[in-house]
Amino acid sequence: MRFIGNKTNLLGFIDKSLDKNIQNITSVADAFSGTTSVAQHFKKNRKLVFSNDLLNFSYVLQRAYIQLNDIDELGPEREISDFIYKLNKLKPIDGFFYEQFSPSSSINSKFNRNYLSEKNAGKIDAALYKLNRWRKDNSINENLYFFILTSIIEAIPYVSNIAGTYGAFLKNDDPRKLKEINFLFPKIISSSKKNMAYNLDSIEFLKNIKTDLIYFDPPYNSRQYASNYHLLERVSIQDYSIPESKTGLHDYSNEKSDWCYKNKVEDVLSRNIYTAVNQSGCKFILLSYNSEGLLDKDIIVETLSSYGSVNLEQLEYPRFRNSKYPKSFIYEYLFLLKVK
Ligand SMILES: C[S@@+](CC[C@H](N)C(=O)[O-])C[C@H]1O[C@@H](n2cnc3c(N)ncnc32)[C@H](O)[C@@H]1O
Repeated sequence: MRFIGNKTNLLGFIDKSLDKNIQNITSVADAFSGTTSVAQHFKKNRKLVFSNDLLNFSYVLQRAYIQLNDIDELGPEREISDFIYKLNKLKPIDGFFYEQFSPSSSINSKFNRNYLSEKNAGKIDAALYKLNRWRKDNSINENLYFFILTSIIEAIPYVSNIAGTYGAFLKNDDPRKLKEINFLFPKIISSSKKNMAYNLDSIEFLKNIKTDLIYFDPPYNSRQYASNYHLLERVSIQDYSIPESKTGLHDYSNEKSDWCYKNKVEDVLSRNIYTAVNQSGCKFILLSYNSEGLLDKDIIVETLSSYGSVNLEQLEYPRFRNSKYPKSFIYEYLFLLKVK
């Protein structure tokens, strides 16, 4: 999934920085799991995984990819693909997403928001309606509810008329918008471990788990994730409050992150590391950050060093230069703390 800070392309860098230490690690907590790419990687490597994120839509993905271990947990196997098949066959309905997030000229929205085609928005409405009917009449269990919701959420970015995030829609139509939405069967990762998904602020999460390694991948800058992915969040929580702004933002005050404020980030870093070391019993902390983030790398090293020895690996990659960013390289950092 296209997501700011998605670490799919950095999994090799993460493995390299852990090096031989990985042999002493049987459990991993991914405290800022986002798309779940890193949590999935450790689950595939047979670790016990605890994943977490403040975003609800990330929690939905975590339920399908991290907490779910086997197709048996969804109900009778032969019926499962039938649900996804039925979803794809539904006729669009003129519901909330059709009215508010497509240019449907509905009397309930004066903005003609051009995030989705009328047809795809109507198919999302129909899919959510059907999903909730199945849940109410007990045709599906809770695991299957999250599994189907994952299929719906993951299909949306492929047909969204945006430049990368939902901070704004495009005026003109991107070819993506013209494709028909297609709900796919999420890939189940099998595991014999009791992997768990959470939807908490990272500090609360860290108080709830016992683990060998904690992976920290917090936001690096002032862009709040809840506003940049508001449409996916809406689908996930099924918040049907009528948006008042042009972009269609919902009230996301309970999802604002302290990591996105220059005047709070140092304090939130030190409270997180303190809680991780003192409450989760971890032996290692691995933290991702980059050279354009709100925190200076020396501050991170200083904070971590109070709890043990720190190793810093960096990966250099070229950036597009402009007057705001005159430097031609960005560094992606991985800090590894071995707790003493
Ligand atoms: C850089 S992204 C993580 C990307 C993820 N590693 C991936 O590969 O997709 C940062 C994540 O931190 C989450 N986040 C921000 N503040 C948080 C907090 N206080 N507690 C938990 N999660 C938070 C955001 O919702 C976002 O998903």
